[in-house]
Amino acid sequence: MNEILIEGRRLRLRRANVTDLNYIMTLQYTPENLKFIVPFDEKYHREIITSDGSEKLDVIVEEIDTGNSVGYFMLRKMDSPFVEFTHVIIGKKGLGYGREALKLLLKWAFEVKDFHRVWIDCKDYNKIALRLYESLGFVREGFLREILLTNGVYENLIVFGMLDREYFSWQEK
Ligand SMILES: CC(C)(COP(=O)(O)OP(=O)(O)OC[C@H]1O[C@@H](n2cnc3c(N)ncnc32)[C@H](O)[C@@H]1OP(=O)(O)O)[C@@H](O)C(=O)NCCC(=O)NCCS
Repeated sequence: MNEILIEGRRLRLRRANVTDLNYIMTLQYTPENLKFIVPFDEKYHREIITSDGSEKLDVIVEEIDTGNSVGYFMLRKMDSPFVEFTHVIIGKKGLGYGREALKLLLKWAFEVKDFHRVWIDCKDYNKIALRLYESLGFVREGFLREILLTNGVYENLIVFGMLDREYFSWQEK
């Protein structure tokens, strides 16, 4: 039985299991996703999936109507008040799934799990993700200069954060 984190109108977020490993690896290594993330290997994901889930979590975004997987998130530092969303990937793009799934993840993080802070980093040229995070209420907190080396090129990251009180005041708007 899959552990469901939260359900919305079109999507549900559930904990990944070993049968999702292929999907997670394929999604990460699809070129249009790979350029914006730092992939982990299958062994690492298997360890997360088979762990007790208290520190890291691999999460599948699933369409409620079809049961098909449409995206993937990874969460880290779940054993602290400061959870990190490290991978945000939607395979079925441009349908509003990224926005809907992130809203669900934020709702779960702040309303169910009572985290104090959620944070995420993003390459500085990832225009779609940057706009999406800001429009969801994330605050631009920092700029990490040339912190990644990708195929011989140094890349910058922008750090976004959201605090619990910001989340709840955003909900009232
Ligand atoms: C970034 C990502 C998660 C967004 O998911 P998505 O389901 O495609 O996005 P949505 O359909 O919810 O759209 C979110 C916003 O981006 C805009 N957008 C989506 N695709 C776009 C495109 N190709 N060109 C321009 N804008 C686009 C949408 O118009 C929407 O903005 P709006 O709500 O103001 O209209 C997804 O594109 C993805 O997986 N990208 C590759 C991996 C990645 O970059 N991950 C983030 C790492 S930090």
